[in-house]
Amino acid sequence: MATSSVLEVSKLSKTYPVRKGQPVKAVDNISFQVKRGEIFGLLGPNGAGKTTTVKMICSLIKPDSGEIKIDGISAWKQRNKALTKISAVLEGNRNIYWRLTVKENLEFFAALKGINPKNIKGKIDYYIELFDLQDKMNETARKLSRGMQQKLAIAVAMIAQSEVVLLDEPTLGLDVKASYEVRDLLKKLAGEDGRTIVLTTHDMNVVQDTCERAIIINHGRIIAQDRVDRLIRLFQVKSYKFVIADKVSQAQKNQLRLVPHLTLHEEERETIIDLNLEDSRVLYQVIKILSQENSPIESIDRQEINFEKVFMEIINGSEPS
Ligand SMILES: Nc1ncnc2c1ncn2[C@@H]1O[C@H](COP(=O)(O)OP(=O)(O)O)[C@@H](O)[C@H]1O
Ligand SMILES: [Mg+2]
Repeated sequence: MATSSVLEVSKLSKTYPVRKGQPVKAVDNISFQVKRGEIFGLLGPNGAGKTTTVKMICSLIKPDSGEIKIDGISAWKQRNKALTKISAVLEGNRNIYWRLTVKENLEFFAALKGINPKNIKGKIDYYIELFDLQDKMNETARKLSRGMQQKLAIAVAMIAQSEVVLLDEPTLGLDVKASYEVRDLLKKLAGEDGRTIVLTTHDMNVVQDTCERAIIINHGRIIAQDRVDRLIRLFQVKSYKFVIADKVSQAQKNQLRLVPHLTLHEEERETIIDLNLEDSRVLYQVIKILSQENSPIESIDRQEINFEKVFMEIINGSEPS
């Protein structure tokens, strides 16, 4: 099948039976496609269903319904074949051996994945350099910093040379510097190495820094899905507050009422206008209406609505009623 998607998830659902209380619908009819060579984000708060989705993609848990295809191979129906196409780092980087050195970990997992021994050395040297682990090559994994351990875990996932690499919360628990190192690394892997990376995170800055496209999920459902630059535009709505030291005329009010996302309220000696806008031309339109009658603009305050706030607004808006 000629397709540019290397991962196709369609109508995936999973409910956990719970002994006491209600069953948990962790993933609810999720569909998305990931293109070869891209970094794709699953963004959502804790409990959104990200880890459950990742575990289904790597055949650790069986979906109730829906289908997953990795490079055209069905994840459950052709499980073993599908597993050769994917590697994963789940939360808590369990895919490295603490007693082995960095180099030994890479050698061990490369051998385990059946990489031709003739090619192993070149590959290991390549990843050690790409991941900037030269100085720690002979250090045991348990002695590494958390950031280094995470880098090693990702390197181990890479050495398998599988088509798709799944990273569940790759920056969780890392300090700021290590988090940025990991983000840079992911960009290098997609860029230089042509790997397809699917990552989950609850941190929108990670998505903003690394992903081309993302879905935002909450309560197991997709609530937004787009290119990250377009998702960011959602987050870039600006809000302005005008204080006018007088009443405005009825004619002005009539004009202002036509401006989208504008609210006006009058106080005893002031008029306050709140304006949300994506397009700054609207701002000039409002200023023009006010200046027609020389309304005394006392202040215009601009509040940049941050990513986090809009993210929370999108999520709260999707709360099941
Ligand atoms: N093994 C399990 N048994 C029962 N409920 C679970 C299990 N694993 C996860 N859940 C529940 O499923 C929902 C989604 O969890 P999870 O996929 O881990 O979300 P995320 O990774 O986005 O934090 C949560 O409500 C969580 O409590
Ligand atoms: Mg999780």
